[in-house]
Amino acid sequence: MIRLNAVTKTYAAGSSRSHTAVDRVTLGITGERITVLQGPSGSGKTTLLSLIGGMARPTSGRIFFGEREITSLPERFLAELRRRQVGFVFQNYHLIRGVNVLENVILPALPLGEPFKAVRRRAEELMAQLEITRLATLPVQHLSGGEQQRVAIARALINRPSLLIADEPTAHLDSDLSEQFMAIVADLKERGHTVVIASHDPMVCRHRAVDTVVSLHDGRLATDAAVA
Ligand SMILES: Nc1ncnc2c1ncn2[C@@H]1O[C@H](COP(=O)(O)OP(=O)(O)OP(=O)(O)O)[C@@H](O)[C@H]1O
Ligand SMILES: [Mg+2]
Repeated sequence: MIRLNAVTKTYAAGSSRSHTAVDRVTLGITGERITVLQGPSGSGKTTLLSLIGGMARPTSGRIFFGEREITSLPERFLAELRRRQVGFVFQNYHLIRGVNVLENVILPALPLGEPFKAVRRRAEELMAQLEITRLATLPVQHLSGGEQQRVAIARALINRPSLLIADEPTAHLDSDLSEQFMAIVADLKERGHTVVIASHDPMVCRHRAVDTVVSLHDGRLATDAAVA
């Protein structure tokens, strides 16, 4: 579904602070599977996720999303692709404080101009699946970490993305909630979503629902297992 061809990302390229976070990575992310990027802190996992999800552009190399090359797509097209095809669950959730749970979930759908009733119905379905219906009218800052994460997942899924990206999703969760998160993504895979997770949590890397583990070290792939 996504292909990276010799992709490099260098921050502050050309300056004395220049740092190559992702170094000539060639990788295929297969559709309807769960891929985990693992590696020590600073190895380039978040950078690689942002390249895969069209949030950052490579310094060199090429990226294909389905049949479409997105390497140098103008920002407005890239933003449209992200909105329609990619759901992000950030490490710190990035929920909007002062706004309630239902509104947080619905927000990414508003720019797409779909009838509000349909969006609201979908939000309610997602919230029911994720067992957060009773939280709908609470401001998000009143929720526990695990509850916030489920709101972040519902929000990431509101536009029915084909690709779900999660950055260190279990970092703030206890082992029961981590297992619950993996059950949610296993179910998403069954329903045809592609999932990419960055994690150094061994429980995630070894989870039975995970199809491929890709190891990064200093921005380089340590395994060719997922190269397509
Ligand atoms: N915007 C930036 N400008 C300069 N350097 C950056 C930037 N973002 C990340 N880096 C550097 O790139 C390297 C890879 O960072 P990245 O966040 O991708 O690693 P990571 O594997 O996600 O780490 P962690 O496990 O701590 O989240 C690090 O050395 C980091 O300091
Ligand atoms: Mg990171």
